[in-house]
Amino acid sequence: MRVLVIGGGGREHALVWKIAQSPRVTKVFCAPGNPGIATLAECVPIPAGNIPDLLTFARDQSIDLTVVGPEAPLADGIADTFRQARLRIFGPGQMAARIETSKVFAKDLMRRRGIPTPSAETFTDVTPALEYLRNHTIPVVIKADGLAQGKGVVVATTLDEAKTAVTDLLEQKVLGESGSTIMIEEFVAGDELSVMALTDGNTVLPLLASRDYKRIFDHDQGPNTGGMGSFAPVTSVDSIMMERITNEILQPTVDALSSLGSPYRGLLYAGIMLTSNGPKALECNARFGDPETQVVLPLLKTDLVDLLDAVVAHQLDSISEIEWHEGAAVCVVLASGGYPARPDIGKNIHGVSEAGNLDDVTVFHAGTTMSDEELTTAGGRVLGVMARGSDHGTARAKAYEAVEKISFEGMQHRNDIYHEGVKP
Ligand code: GLY
Repeated sequence: MRVLVIGGGGREHALVWKIAQSPRVTKVFCAPGNPGIATLAECVPIPAGNIPDLLTFARDQSIDLTVVGPEAPLADGIADTFRQARLRIFGPGQMAARIETSKVFAKDLMRRRGIPTPSAETFTDVTPALEYLRNHTIPVVIKADGLAQGKGVVVATTLDEAKTAVTDLLEQKVLGESGSTIMIEEFVAGDELSVMALTDGNTVLPLLASRDYKRIFDHDQGPNTGGMGSFAPVTSVDSIMMERITNEILQPTVDALSSLGSPYRGLLYAGIMLTSNGPKALECNARFGDPETQVVLPLLKTDLVDLLDAVVAHQLDSISEIEWHEGAAVCVVLASGGYPARPDIGKNIHGVSEAGNLDDVTVFHAGTTMSDEELTTAGGRVLGVMARGSDHGTARAKAYEAVEKISFEGMQHRNDIYHEGVKP
């Protein structure tokens, strides 16, 4: 098979890394890719948003399967365009991708289908939103309706913080159109986890549960980011809880989205809070999580291409079971100075080979580029240092040993990814 992966971040590096291991695959392309991906696949300089050129490339190169990494091309309808051209693609159509591109659409859908989710109200004007806040309990969650690259959610622990978030979005328009409609959502306490599930619009096959760390600083301090680290599995999620999550959240969401026109063929990501009243869906995404993919795929024993192919062929029911490696995986993200507000990029990166040569360690590239033959930072999240181990503690120790080998000016990372005492 000739496979094209779209995107150029850490998630796409992990996808390419796993796809390239399949004996069914003769060639992997990635558009646009990054220097890490270039060691495994042929990178083609087509931006992930250029759907016409991607379509032409897939046709000209007789691509058998295209796998979409990021949400933006899905939101722009890449899956519909490819399917209309009779090209095989992993990813939902534009209508179904609204589960991620509009938080208000997602909340309405979940409410109508009786899917457990925190209650919320929608606002487009600042005055009624502030009035609503005055009568709301704190903490409270403020969410931009549209895509915001991890910056669209504020968990406000004071009324002032909540008011600032509302005014920033609705009055100051800090996120532009993405934040011109907001939701004010009930805060629910509990253990948060990410569950990614493969689906062909009918069968739903969940992958191992994982956890990501959204805040920039240790002990969940500072602003939200795209994700500063992750681990898998979340062992407190037993098979009974996974069945509940599947039956109460994933399957009804897939059924609802498939009823919009075409079957949902791709990956549904649910951000879930395990509350004292059971699992509640905080958000859904229409693609693999980042950096969750970087810990879930290294634990996958089954050939990923068999799974992706079964999704696209609408034959996911032919897969009776997904096999997993024993043990755990931990990923520590190395970010640029100034991230998430203003990443300071263009810094030379040292030590990536030394880190990657350690046993059970893989360094996934995200915001990197080659400049004057030097590996250089090119984005907020630069690298994801992943290690596997016989248990979470061993994986964590190996990941941090590898982190020690890498340096670039301004580099920041969290020290508490899978810290001792965390409930896995
Ligand atoms: N790690 C969160 C996300 O991928 O949306």
